[in-house]
Amino acid sequence: MFSFLKIGRYEPDVKRYKDDVFLVSYPKSGNTWMRFVLSNLLKKSSDETIDFHSAIDYVPELSVHNEKVNQLERPRIIKSHETYNKLFPKVVYLIRDPRDVYVSYYHYLLKRLPPGTTFKEFLRMDDLHPSRWHIHVKSWQNQPGVRVFKYETLLENPVEEVLKITEYIGLDKDSADVEAAVKASSFDKMKEIENKNGRPFKDEEAKKLATPFMRKGQKGDWKSYFSEDDIRFLWDEAGEVMKKYDYI
Ligand code: A3P
Repeated sequence: MFSFLKIGRYEPDVKRYKDDVFLVSYPKSGNTWMRFVLSNLLKKSSDETIDFHSAIDYVPELSVHNEKVNQLERPRIIKSHETYNKLFPKVVYLIRDPRDVYVSYYHYLLKRLPPGTTFKEFLRMDDLHPSRWHIHVKSWQNQPGVRVFKYETLLENPVEEVLKITEYIGLDKDSADVEAAVKASSFDKMKEIENKNGRPFKDEEAKKLATPFMRKGQKGDWKSYFSEDDIRFLWDEAGEVMKKYDYI
C-alpha cells in the first residue's frame, strides 16, 4: 500500500561526504517545517520566497532526489525518513509526540488507505512506512552524531531551538537571521505558500491522492482521536520510549 514512499537509503549513484548533515525523522514530525527554516537560512537571495518546490533544492531527500543531493554545495543538508543508518555522519533527529504523529499520518494518507479505514484501524497497522514510530526512535537514540530536537520545543521556542540546530550543524547564522527564517516558515505563512504555489507531485495520480499538507501544526490534537483503548494500545507498544521523551 505504501510503495509510493521511498526508504531513503544511500544508493551507488550518491556521493558520500564526511561533512554531510542529515535531517531525519519519522514521517509527520516537522521535517518539512525545518526544511523550510533551513532553506530560508541557506537561500541565495533575501528576496527569494521558499516554497514546497524550492525547499527540495536546498534540502533534498535521499533516494527521492538523488540528482539534487549530488548537486548540493558542501556541507550538504539531506532529508531522510530512514531508520538508523551508520553511514550518516551527523544527524538532526526530529521527534514528535507519537499520538500527534499517528493522527497527522492518518490524515496525510487518508486518500490512499482502504476506503472507510478508521483511525483505530490505522493506528494498529503494522506495515507503516518506514516502520512503527517507536522502532524508528529506538533505532536512532543514543547513536553517535545524533542530536534529538523535539517538535513541541520548536513550537514553544522556535528561535532558540533553531539556533541550537544551526550551532550543531555548523551553520554560521545569528539570531536575527534565524528569527527571519522562522518568521518566513511560520505555520500560517507555509499554509499560504502551499495554497498559492502548491506542492511537487510525482504524477497526476499522486496529486489526486494528496490531502492538504499544512493541517493544524499543533500539539495535543490527538486527544480528539484517541479512545482509552487506543491510548493503552500505544502505551503497551511504545510507552518505554514515550516516557523517555516525556510524552506522558
Ligand atoms: P499536522 O498534520 O499535525 O498539522 P512532516 O513535514 O514531518 O511530514 O510533518 C508534518 C506536520 O508538521 C504536520 O502536522 C504539519 O502541519 C506540521 N507543520 C508543518 N509546518 C509547520 C510549521 N511551520 N509549524 C508547525 N507545524 C508545522
